[in-house]
Amino acid sequence: MYSSEIIGCGMYVPENIVTNHDLSKMMETTHDWIVQRSGIEERRWVSNDTSTSDLALKACEEAIKSAGIDKKEIDCLLFATISPDHDFPGNACFLQPKLGLTEIPAIDIRQQCSGFIYGMSVADAFIKSGQYKTILLVGAEVHSKGLDKSTKGRDVAVLFGDGAGAVVIRRTEVTDKAKNSHIFSTHLFSEGQHAKDLWCAAPGSGLGTAERLNHLHLEEGLQYPSMNGKKVFANAVRRMCECLMLALETNKVKLEDIDLFLFHQANLRINQMLAQELKIPEEKIFNTIMKYGNTTAATIPIGMSDAVKAGKLKKGMLVASAAFGSGFTWASSVYRW
Ligand code: UT7
Repeated sequence: MYSSEIIGCGMYVPENIVTNHDLSKMMETTHDWIVQRSGIEERRWVSNDTSTSDLALKACEEAIKSAGIDKKEIDCLLFATISPDHDFPGNACFLQPKLGLTEIPAIDIRQQCSGFIYGMSVADAFIKSGQYKTILLVGAEVHSKGLDKSTKGRDVAVLFGDGAGAVVIRRTEVTDKAKNSHIFSTHLFSEGQHAKDLWCAAPGSGLGTAERLNHLHLEEGLQYPSMNGKKVFANAVRRMCECLMLALETNKVKLEDIDLFLFHQANLRINQMLAQELKIPEEKIFNTIMKYGNTTAATIPIGMSDAVKAGKLKKGMLVASAAFGSGFTWASSVYRW
């Protein structure tokens, strides 16, 4: 049976750094509050002329280069995002021509902060089935254009940043599980009864109005994300622990066998609590939230690229990832780099 392996990765974040001090000029907040509650010191926000697919393009180009493939070998494009260029078509359709690719399937994944691991799972299944051989998976977000930057929206606005991360996932045949790079497993979960605890209501056909978006929705601020922060936080810790342990058990891997943990970055305190709960040495967790904030579907592939560049992620290492986000959705994966 075929397996899949990550053969290259890339990332891109906009040049414009927005510090906590910058935010304190837009809304009632402080650097200390943001650092103490979330660990975030700064994030990147795009300029007006940059879209989500623009960020994705740069991350994809780096991933293709690092994979050492000709882009014509890519036979499927997967794009995880919750902040697309437009309402429809999907963002993979906007990215495909920018990459100079034609006709290959262009598929969007809408699983928020878990989107990248959901995308890994889809890619892994496509490759195992024999349907596709070389898949480009990108997670990218432009959150800055969709946040309420007034004091009313401060609980959400201070957390999110813009960025993109991409990987090339390719068919491989595993002869030695202990040595060969490959994806061991992905585990995906969701609990839609909590959908409105972290969501963006408008535009939407579920608003009970004749239009998906009208001036009353805008006056109410329904176009901005809203969150029940404490509930999301508690569920994130619980569910990430659970799905991580399940991934380890399924693969008969011990926690101490994992060389690096690449978790989603929603709040530094969530990852510190995970470390405490599971007794993971902090130096084995690669965190990026301090400089990028939460970049949702882009977070884990940005972490991969950053970790490679920092010399923390090397070929042959056993890696575990877990994520939790809106939906609620959560997911985990174990893979040999
Ligand atoms: O990626 C998807 C998953 N997302 C997450 O996992 C996020 C999970 N939640 C969190 O990270 C945290 O709940 C937050 C960082 C969002 C908030 O931290 P918290 O410790 O839960 O604070 P809180 O919401 O209970 O707010 C405490 C106080 C409130 O004031 P009062 O009511 O005590 O007077 C808030 O109004 O802090 C106030 N507050 C702020 N103050 C300064 C909320 N946001 C801010 C802010 N600056 N940006």
